Amino acid sequence: MFFHVLTLFPEMIMEGLGTSILGRAMQKGCIQAEAINIRDYTTNKHQKVDDYTYGPGAGMLMQAQPVYDCVHAVLTRIAERRARSPETESPAEKRVRVVYVTPQGAVFDQKMAQEFAKEEDLVLLCGHYEGIDERVLEEVVTDYVSIGDYVLTGGELPAMVMVDAISRLVPGVLNNDESAVTDSFGNGLLEHPQYSRPQVWHDKEVPPVLLSGNHKLIEKWQLEESLKRTKERRPDLYQKWREENDHS
Ligand code: ADE
Repeated sequence: MFFHVLTLFPEMIMEGLGTSILGRAMQKGCIQAEAINIRDYTTNKHQKVDDYTYGPGAGMLMQAQPVYDCVHAVLTRIAERRARSPETESPAEKRVRVVYVTPQGAVFDQKMAQEFAKEEDLVLLCGHYEGIDERVLEEVVTDYVSIGDYVLTGGELPAMVMVDAISRLVPGVLNNDESAVTDSFGNGLLEHPQYSRPQVWHDKEVPPVLLSGNHKLIEKWQLEESLKRTKERRPDLYQKWREENDHS
């Protein structure tokens, strides 16, 4: 999967994604990521990409022209790449999703991450200042996505959050493919508690069932603990799980 992040701060993206699990996944070639500087596409002779908003309310807005030309250039490159290797890639004419990360979008969750993980390419557009001129958004954006009901200074952190959550669902990124399924939200519940060595720490014992070697019993315990934890910490998720799983 190939992430294309359009931003005024490309170094922030590449530094953020280059380490740990994602850095390794990029080296292995499971995922690819590029950060494209929107400023490189401005036709303004002073390299300006923003201007004052029309109407009341002070603030600067990213202008339509550099954003449009940047998105267009990236989509053209993707189409050309797909056309070069049609047997392994999505058809060149398949619409590439262009996500604008904004507090005004649908709230990102695990289900959305799973949907996006099926794409071969994902374009993430990061706004800054007061946002981006509405006219270009109308023309290029396919999805508006927020990472939560709070406002950040720019779209870079939300884009990185999305790349991280989506990448770990791409086959080969996690060493143990199973963990993406058993993780919190993988089955709509929070994950059960986990323990490592030593067997006793601060007088607290690892639950004996985990030492029993009985896989059936362990699975039963894990589900019960998942349910207990979800009910306590996320009653909304618990309610939803009950509705979907209680068929009696
Ligand atoms: N840009 C600023 N705040 C944001 C948020 N909460 N989600 C996505 N993009 C944003």
